[in-house]
Amino acid sequence: MDLDSRMSLVSVVGAAGKMGSGITFLLAQEMARLSLLPENKGKLYRLIAVDLDPNALRGLQEYVHVQAVKAAEKSAVGLRALYANRPDLVENSEIIEDYTRRIDAMVWPTTDLAAVAGSRLVFEAIVEKIEIKTSVYRQLKELCPDAYFFTNTSSVPIGVLDREAGLGGRVLGVHFYNPPPVQKLVEIIRADSTTDDVVAVATEIGKRLRKTLIPSHDVAGFIGNGHFIRDGNHGLAEAARLAKEHGWPKAFHIVNRVSQDWLLRPMGIFQLIDYVGIDVFKFIQTVMGKYLPETLSDPVIDRMIEKKVLGGQNPDGSQKPGFFTYEKGRIVSVYDLDKGVYLPLDPAGWTGEADAALGPLPEPFRPWKGLVGAPDRSAALVAHFERVAAQRSLGGELARTYLGRSREIGRKLVADGVAFDADGVNGVLTSGFFHLYGPINDYCK
Ligand SMILES: NC(=O)c1ccc[n+]([C@@H]2O[C@H](COP(=O)([O-])OP(=O)(O)OC[C@H]3O[C@@H](n4cnc5c(N)ncnc54)[C@H](O)[C@@H]3O)[C@@H](O)[C@H]2O)c1
Repeated sequence: MDLDSRMSLVSVVGAAGKMGSGITFLLAQEMARLSLLPENKGKLYRLIAVDLDPNALRGLQEYVHVQAVKAAEKSAVGLRALYANRPDLVENSEIIEDYTRRIDAMVWPTTDLAAVAGSRLVFEAIVEKIEIKTSVYRQLKELCPDAYFFTNTSSVPIGVLDREAGLGGRVLGVHFYNPPPVQKLVEIIRADSTTDDVVAVATEIGKRLRKTLIPSHDVAGFIGNGHFIRDGNHGLAEAARLAKEHGWPKAFHIVNRVSQDWLLRPMGIFQLIDYVGIDVFKFIQTVMGKYLPETLSDPVIDRMIEKKVLGGQNPDGSQKPGFFTYEKGRIVSVYDLDKGVYLPLDPAGWTGEADAALGPLPEPFRPWKGLVGAPDRSAALVAHFERVAAQRSLGGELARTYLGRSREIGRKLVADGVAFDADGVNGVLTSGFFHLYGPINDYCK
């Protein structure tokens, strides 16, 4: 069966979640494009959006509609080309209306998994729990005997899913990054058992969705989380060490600043863990730990979870309290793990003391934001890390250790056969995590 035939009946399971909703929208756009091609006139395209949560499915419909309107308004010229054989639609507004109506009608939300019957492609983005995923796949296998299954799992080995659910090689890891419509990166994870055609179909879909595809071997956590979890654990261990002398709020503040400002990353490590969700970080640690000969759990994460401080986002996209609390996306207070309270930032008080302990930034300093689109970025990075190498402050020391650990993790991912090569690791960190440079580099050696 060719790809275009497969694309006529597609399902997303877990469609109303963070990842599922973005994947649903991306697929709806591609299916709408196909439905408008003259050779497909009269063909029916259906995108079955399954989720356990009926309220979230209503939110999904609203989200898809709003995104479709935005996308149509943004690319009126491209849309016009797609509507070239519809002379009955003259005004831009008529085309936009038809396009959004088409997308709205294509997405069929349901809480009934049986509605996926006969689907030819199934994208799965349900909760990261292997028993639940396996049980859903066992049902999917019966419901869709011809389907190819694309799982968005962040950590479960694809071969394990294939074996446990008996999918006969029809499953592939297609690991979108959050949020899928915005993030370019998709990690492609093939199990030993995955058939060539499944990979070929996913590769073609990835191209059509204009994604950057990076292959990873089938090792729990793959490249992205393989680096993120260990890098996060390094930050957590550093904070625990510093907390003995400075207390938790200063320790979290210091490590977060080093990992953002000294390492020139878009966010500090604890802000990133808050964004992902402290509970999600724990899930991934646990699943990876199950399959790898390495302890990945961390006592700080476990204590945060015990105290029900979980991070993650509210339905309106705002950040929930985690290591920090936020106002309009900015950090305003820091958690004290011993006292169980948040301490407001106080530049004239404790925050100023922590910054003084850290020492000055490597000057002249250009933050991530100022470098991300800069034409002289490569030279600026070299100069920045020469200054970091020369610093005798706590900030310089922590940054060099952090950089070294990140490099070691990157190299290990290649040595352990998770990444195909150093470019694979660097590509995932630069395109999926928006780092300005890959972990396998020569800075501060
Ligand atoms: N959030 C991220 O940053 C991120 C990034 C990459 C990959 N992932 C992976 O994507 C998957 C989904 O993660 P998420 O963050 O979108 O989670 P989420 O909790 O936001 O969404 C999961 C959705 O699945 C639904 N669901 C759960 N069990 C179901 C079932 N049996 N049948 C149908 N629907 C069910 C839930 O109601 C929910 O809407 C996980 O495997 C996760 O590891 C997440």
